[in-house]
Amino acid sequence: MVYSIMLTRRDCFKYAATAGAAISLPVQRLLGQVSAPLITRKIPSSGEDLPVIGLGGAATFGSLAQSGNLSPLRAVLTTLLDNGGTVFDTAAAYGASEVIAGRLAQELGVEAQLFWSTKVNSAKPEWGPSYPDVTRQQIQDSFDRIGKSPIDLMQIHNLGDIKTQLPMIQELKEEGRVRYIGITYDTPDRHDELIQAMRDETLDFIGIDYAVDNTAAAETILPLAQDQGIAVIIYQPFGRTRLWSRVAGRQVPEWAQEFDATTWAQFFIKYVIAHPAVTVVTPATSKPANVIDNLAGGMGRLPDEPMRHRMEELVAALPSAR
Ligand SMILES: NC(=O)c1ccc[n+]([C@@H]2O[C@H](COP(=O)([O-])OP(=O)(O)OC[C@H]3O[C@@H](n4cnc5c(N)ncnc54)[C@H](OP(=O)(O)O)[C@@H]3O)[C@@H](O)[C@H]2O)c1
Repeated sequence: MVYSIMLTRRDCFKYAATAGAAISLPVQRLLGQVSAPLITRKIPSSGEDLPVIGLGGAATFGSLAQSGNLSPLRAVLTTLLDNGGTVFDTAAAYGASEVIAGRLAQELGVEAQLFWSTKVNSAKPEWGPSYPDVTRQQIQDSFDRIGKSPIDLMQIHNLGDIKTQLPMIQELKEEGRVRYIGITYDTPDRHDELIQAMRDETLDFIGIDYAVDNTAAAETILPLAQDQGIAVIIYQPFGRTRLWSRVAGRQVPEWAQEFDATTWAQFFIKYVIAHPAVTVVTPATSKPANVIDNLAGGMGRLPDEPMRHRMEELVAALPSAR
């Protein structure tokens, strides 16, 4: 099925109201945009198509969940699904995120429509010799919270304890309880270990940080993922708040219209998904209007290599994040 953003002015006011915010400029601009299909990418190990834009469930989702006001989260999830997105990235370690997302999805009856990416926690020394049992319990908790079996993707969080945890999730895959397995890491300091695991192990996915001002993953990891047939989830496409602070008060350049980007979110997202190794990016947001903006980043033309260099240069010339 082909999805595109086709919001009426009434929809936009509804989303803005649900989020408790004034209608944003990006959404106003989107109103005037010609709709285009949401790009999909294939998971190399299966050939399954995934919409290239998903939703992150860490800080923003966890803190809203704790605030007790769940309406924005409900709206964020339905906005994603109503406009063709499916991938929701969470983790046992993200506080209330997995619990609340699972509960909301089940209340809305959409748990089966979402492509759930969750993670096994990193090992903690204080867990002691019973640590495999802790991991087993944690995985069972994820099944109970999410309410979907098989879980689509189970990853080892931040390299965890690969020796112990990878065989456990491989077994789950063999039993049909998990569809895909992977490993994540989100800063360049341990890229060598991730590279080693990509070479030594059979993985369906990796999850990695990558952004227009954080391109270390493009040196070895992204080309290796292409060579090895490993799908890639991109985390922190905005560097959390780093890129927002760098472009604060600045207009998106006119030339970004050459690749259909009219907002900074679309600019940052299009930079990332234009890399051929990228399968899906999961920007986090607490606002339905921003989900729409981010999904629009997965539509229309993408920058080519010379244009991507131009984008890098523009951002490199901006002041560093405060
Ligand atoms: N090791 C790992 O496994 C790992 C590590 C890091 C991240 N992740 C995953 O990746 C996800 C994304 O990373 P992240 O949460 O670190 O940060 P991020 O997606 O780079 O940034 C999110 C920030 O951008 C804002 N934002 C989102 N869309 C926007 C838009 N269209 N316009 C303006 N502002 C916008 C959000 O605020 P608003 O709420 O105001 O929109 C939020 O402050 C996480 O939630 C998590 O699922 C995984």
